[in-house]
Amino acid sequence: MPNTPSQFELDCSLCPRLNDFLIDNRKKYPDYHARPVPPFGVSKPKLLIVGLAPGMHGANATGRPFTGDHAGIILYEMLYQYGFSNKPISTDLKDGLKLKHARITNAVKCLPPENKPIGKEINTCNAYLHEELKTIDKKAIILCLGLISHKAVIKALGLKQSDFPFVHGKRHKLDDGRQIMDSYHCSRYNTNTKRLTEEMFSDVFKKIKTELKL
Ligand code: URA
Repeated sequence: MPNTPSQFELDCSLCPRLNDFLIDNRKKYPDYHARPVPPFGVSKPKLLIVGLAPGMHGANATGRPFTGDHAGIILYEMLYQYGFSNKPISTDLKDGLKLKHARITNAVKCLPPENKPIGKEINTCNAYLHEELKTIDKKAIILCLGLISHKAVIKALGLKQSDFPFVHGKRHKLDDGRQIMDSYHCSRYNTNTKRLTEEMFSDVFKKIKTELKL
């Protein structure tokens, strides 16, 4: 854990395996961001979206969560459709995209080998998520994309995992007024296999929009 945790540190090197992987990645792809990926969006969001970790040729390349890979296509489209952004597509840091009331972050800020962070890395990065969750609106919704992100959020909030099982489409009300909303991750695998369809994802955003009364 960082001694003085903040929401994000570009030069974080707390996870040796991830740090080594990023060093190799910078050599292989000199044009890539290839560092911890900062959250994107407003600083006090009503909707905080928590993904898993940067994808190799997506967020790791562009430096913005869910940008440049398949998972981001449907996510940014939904954000636009439900009024959380000014554009339906996220391409790079200079594309003029602005989120409204929303912020996107990852449970693990660095690219993990084979897209699979190990438990220790998820736990170490949890200190950043913990700090980030402190800053969000008291009536905010935290949208967890997938089981790992859900568990990371429960841990970062200091809650008991067994009290909050992951269920796609479920809203968990927290004592402080905030809510967690679960969705299957919008990964290429999940959308190709129809575990998560566009309609299912749209229903999640519909519920969020209704709850937030925006
Ligand atoms: N890109 C991200 O930033 N996070 C994910 O969970 C998947 C792709």
